[in-house]
Amino acid sequence: MKNIYSNIFSYNKKSLNNTITILKKGNIVGLPTETVYGLAGNAYLKEPIKKIYKLKKRPKINPLIVHFFNYRDAENDVILNNNFLKLYKKFCPGPITFILKKKKKSKIQPMVSANLSSIAIRFPSHKVTRSILKKINFPLAMPSANISSNVSPVSAEDVTDEFKKDIKFILNGGECKIGIESTVIDLTRKPTILRPGIIGAKPIAKILKTKINFSKKNSKITSPGMLKRHYSPGIPIILNQTPVNGTIACITIGKKYKNKTNYFNLSKKSNLKEAASNLYKTLRKIKKLKFKKIYVVKIPCSGEGIAINDRLIRAAKKK
Ligand code: TXA
Ligand code: MG
Repeated sequence: MKNIYSNIFSYNKKSLNNTITILKKGNIVGLPTETVYGLAGNAYLKEPIKKIYKLKKRPKINPLIVHFFNYRDAENDVILNNNFLKLYKKFCPGPITFILKKKKKSKIQPMVSANLSSIAIRFPSHKVTRSILKKINFPLAMPSANISSNVSPVSAEDVTDEFKKDIKFILNGGECKIGIESTVIDLTRKPTILRPGIIGAKPIAKILKTKINFSKKNSKITSPGMLKRHYSPGIPIILNQTPVNGTIACITIGKKYKNKTNYFNLSKKSNLKEAASNLYKTLRKIKKLKFKKIYVVKIPCSGEGIAINDRLIRAAKKK
């Protein structure tokens, strides 16, 4: 039988150069970042962007994040304001995405940002993807490498499992350390978090010396929160439950819960950062084991727990 993971390539000089050739030709590749794996294409060309939307079955109204090596590379495409520069200095490269105003002369395809006048930009810290960004003279549009509404991938194998043969080339960068998507902050207005992540509102508020808003559900801005079910393993999820024995997969946290075949502990030490990094991995594992239902215990809604609860609430939506 043919190895279904033959589209995964280890990182070396040859695969790095191949990745760059593929991107230059207007094709798409799977790339690792510190948060989740992405589906990358040249943001200045139409063809790869069309391919990304099509492969992900992503609604055209949901804009993509554009990835750069550093802020100087972004200067031609976006207006960099003071709040951006302060946060960049502290957190970049790293797991934070900034919504900024697009420059009129920008070469980024309008489709990338769903024809909005703003653009989401990010500077990933994963060394594999940084080495690519350093060598190319165009930015990468790169959404998470999953079919829309599914769980995001945290390993190269997850990307293959998602798209099978439809993706020809995935560069292997190992398992993503952070394991959930970047914090998205809108800096075109009073700083507002559109998607919580590992970098929380508190450290951001400290640097900007202002209170940070969270976008309300159904607000006008297009963010994952306003769309329907997302981050879903395709199995019903019920939150704030007490674990039960038997055939329901139970996601737990902390020392209180013993090891059982249907229990999946996100962090024995109740470390919320560790729990976040195990969340998507655990959801995929439960799906592979063919459980039909998932219970989740109450997860504290503070620090990284805010991002975990954000994802779980969306994953537990009926549709
Ligand atoms: O960690 C991450 O951010 C990963 C890795 C691969 O970099 N990428 C990622 O991309 O999560 P994606 O496309 O799955 O999620 C980006 C979210 C979108 O759901 C979109 O709604 C929001 O960012 N977004 C993008 N451009 C925006 C804009 N101009 N205004 C408001 N929200 C925007
Ligand atoms: Mg996504």
